[in-house]
Amino acid sequence: MSLELTQNPPAEHPISSLSKPTILLHWAVAVSFLFTFFVGVYLVDLPRGPEKFELIGLHKSMGVLVLVVALLRIVWRLKEGKLKPASTLSALQQKAASAVHGLLLLATIAMPISGAVMSVAGGRGLDFFSVNLIAKGDKMEGLQSVAHSLHVNAPYLIYAILALHLLAVLKHHLIDKDNTLTRMLGKD
Ligand code: HEM
Repeated sequence: MSLELTQNPPAEHPISSLSKPTILLHWAVAVSFLFTFFVGVYLVDLPRGPEKFELIGLHKSMGVLVLVVALLRIVWRLKEGKLKPASTLSALQQKAASAVHGLLLLATIAMPISGAVMSVAGGRGLDFFSVNLIAKGDKMEGLQSVAHSLHVNAPYLIYAILALHLLAVLKHHLIDKDNTLTRMLGKD
């Protein structure tokens, strides 16, 4: 049985290079998101104390930064349109790639928003490093608990999506031998 490949329409033709803002925004979101993510994973099991307190402050501020960069990235993506595949993909592969990319974009928005809501609804306000963005206020327990459960359960799904994303990149690089990875590194 042969694997049927879709002939991509002209607008979807593979392209060899990506624009500078696309590359810059991808790595800015990737590095800041992963840093914030793993600080969150590390701090959650720390005992209460100065280290945990400091890391929570760093985690929250970095989360706000991720939100800003992720929103810029989405605006840029809407302006530039979808990334074209680096090589011809089957219809199934195209759907899987769109789903994984969509979920990753969603995670970069949903994690900071749920974190910020958790903090504000917990009556703790929201700071960006030493700048107060939202003042401390009343507790909204229902809202805090919804945001908290999203924020601490989504990471299980995020691990799976990140793994699929990395496996796909490896497959493109090592098996398909196309320029999916090198063009994102700005080498094409
Ligand atoms: C890119 C943005 C963010 C990512 C990827 C992220 C990720 C995480 C992760 C993985 C955890 C550990 C969850 C667990 O294992 O239970 C966590 C915990 C936490 N995050 Fe975030 N977070 C982000 C943004 C924020 C923001 C903006 C805030 C608040 C302003 C925030 C507040 C917290 C707090 C308070 C905890 C500890 C929760 C607990 O002790 O139950 N996060 N975060």
